[in-house]
Amino acid sequence: MKMLEIKYKCLHPSCIVNCRDGVIAMPEEHFNVLKGHYADETTFRSPKGLCRLGFNQAYKAVAIIAEADFADAAHGHEHEGCGHDPMGLLSADHQVILKKLDEIEQQIKMRDSGTLWRTTTELENIIMLHSIHKEEDTLFPFLLDLPIGDGLVSIIKEDHRELVTLMHSFRTGLAESRILDGLGMSIIVCLRSHIRKEDNEFFKLIDKLLDHDLRTRILAGFKKAEDAFVPIVADENTREQLKKEALAMKRDEMDDAIAAALEETRSSLSGCCH
Ligand SMILES: [Fe+2]
Ligand SMILES: [Fe+2]
Repeated sequence: MKMLEIKYKCLHPSCIVNCRDGVIAMPEEHFNVLKGHYADETTFRSPKGLCRLGFNQAYKAVAIIAEADFADAAHGHEHEGCGHDPMGLLSADHQVILKKLDEIEQQIKMRDSGTLWRTTTELENIIMLHSIHKEEDTLFPFLLDLPIGDGLVSIIKEDHRELVTLMHSFRTGLAESRILDGLGMSIIVCLRSHIRKEDNEFFKLIDKLLDHDLRTRILAGFKKAEDAFVPIVADENTREQLKKEALAMKRDEMDDAIAAALEETRSSLSGCCH
């Protein structure tokens, strides 16, 4: 039986739950049955239980690799277009984040707080799954046995802490229909710099050190993180919760927290975020 590993993307236009893309493995025969539902050779019906909403969604196969090809892929350093590529998957997440940042930048300019509430909820979900659960909780423990300095990992973690703080402060403002422009732009600049740093330096360094077994274990960890992730929803409950937090904090304390977050970003931009 030939197994296929498939990197997929859900074609549902507006769903924001965490099964919208990922990697799955299945027998080739099963894949042939699922893609038989569509005329297009690369579109297939989602396997039972994969869609978090419980539907049979149309999934696009972005990359397919047969099990027999896995070993070849692990020997080279070039894994582009190959499904057995954990760093490639993280970089693919980055492209989704960059697209979302472009949308948010436009919405800040348009003063569209309602749409910003939705798009920043989506961004927060992507960041929590990607940066915290995939990078920090899954990938970083594997790096302990590799010759990578602690310093670089600490810098990446520090960036994550700052980004999560900035996002939280920005969204607390949005819950009260306040668009904190400076904070929003800090998130955009810092996140773009962080992604450049990971794609151009950090991931390249790691990719050279991963063997086939490690790649397999990291990919399995990513899948587990995706399966376990519970996204926040852009509804009134979430908004009310953030409003309560803002009320619990005195207004001047809130402004101090935002100023401190901005100051941290400024210093990181002159240091680690570039
Ligand atoms: Fe990342
Ligand atoms: Fe990161």
